[in-house]
Amino acid sequence: MAHSLADKISTILHEFDSRMHAATTLEQLETIRIHFIGRSGVVSSVMDALKQASLEEKRIYGPQVNTLKNHINEELERKKLEFITHLQTQEEKSARAFDVTARIWQPLHGTLHPYTQVIQELEDIFISMGFAVVDGPEIETAEYNFDALNIPADHPAREHHDTFWLNVPGLLLRTHTSNVQARTMRQATTFPIAVFAPGRVFRNEALDASHEFMFPQGEIMFIDKNVSLANLMAIAQSFLQKFFNKQDLKIRVRPGYFPFVEPGLEIDGQCPFCTQGCSVCKRTGWIELLGAGLIHPRVLKAGSIDPEVYSGFAMGFGIARIAMIKYGINDIRVFHSNHLPSLQKF
Ligand code: PHE
Repeated sequence: MAHSLADKISTILHEFDSRMHAATTLEQLETIRIHFIGRSGVVSSVMDALKQASLEEKRIYGPQVNTLKNHINEELERKKLEFITHLQTQEEKSARAFDVTARIWQPLHGTLHPYTQVIQELEDIFISMGFAVVDGPEIETAEYNFDALNIPADHPAREHHDTFWLNVPGLLLRTHTSNVQARTMRQATTFPIAVFAPGRVFRNEALDASHEFMFPQGEIMFIDKNVSLANLMAIAQSFLQKFFNKQDLKIRVRPGYFPFVEPGLEIDGQCPFCTQGCSVCKRTGWIELLGAGLIHPRVLKAGSIDPEVYSGFAMGFGIARIAMIKYGINDIRVFHSNHLPSLQKF
C-alpha cells in the first residue's frame, strides 16, 4: 500500500510535468486541469485511497498529496498567465502591422440634387426680399389650376397645357405653379401677400433637350393696395441680379399673353455671360426668363379679394431653365438621368 501510494504520487507528478511541458494552448491547460485535479481526477482518486490508509501512512503521504496538489495548481496558474500574456503581445503586434497611411477608396459623397440646390438658392433670395415660401398640391383640381385663373373649360389656353388628367373627374397633375395663386389668396388674412412657391409641375409633352413631362417651376405673387408694373419690374430685376450674381443685369419686357394677368408680359434678362451675343443668348444678348403680369381682376375675385381695393403681380419661371442657363447645362434630361458626372458638377 505504502509503496503503491508513493508510486502513484510520483507517477502523477511526472505525467503532469510532461503534459504541461507539451501544452501550447489554454484549452489544453483546461483539459489537464480536469484530468488531474477535477472532481473525479487522478488526484482525487489518490485522496480517496489515502482515506483507507493507516494513520502512519496518512502522516507520510498526506502532506505529499497536498504538495502535489499545490504544485499542479501553481503550475497551471503560471502557465495560463504566460499564455495569456503571449496572446496579448501577438494581438498588439498584429495591430501595429495595420498601416494607417495606406490608400483607401475615396468614399462617394452624396450631394443634394441640383433642383434642390437651386430651389434653396431661390428661397434664400425671395426670403431676403420679404417673401414667404409656400407649397401647393401636385394633384390639383381643375378649379385652382384653370377656372380660378380665368381659364374656363372652353378656353383655348387649356389645350396648350397638355394636361395629365387623373381618372377621378376634375383632378389633374398641376400644369403650373400658378395653382397656388387662388389658394394663397383665399387663405390670406393680412396684406401684403408676398409668396414664393417652387415645386414640380407636369405636362404631357414630347421629350427633348428642353422639355420634360415633369419639371420644377417657381411662382411669385405679390398683392397689396396700389401695386403697379413698376413694383413687378423692380422685383423681377433684383431677383435676376441676385440669381445670376450680376449687379448691373438689366431686364426688358415684351407683351405676353396669359389669361390670368392683364397686362401680361414676357420678361427677358440681359445675357449674364456676354455683351456681344453668345451661344447661350443665341447672339441676341437677351434671354427669355419670366412670364409675368398684373393679376387679372377676375383672378383676384376668384381668390375672394376685392379688385377695386387691391392689386397685385404674379411671375412664373422654369427653375430647370434658369438652372441650365446659370450652370451651363444644355440638356434638361440630365437632371433625371442619374448620370453622376453631370449631377456632380453641382
Ligand atoms: N403659369 C405660367 C406658365 O406656366 C407662368 C406665369 C406665371 C405667367 C405668373 C404669368 C404670371 O407658363
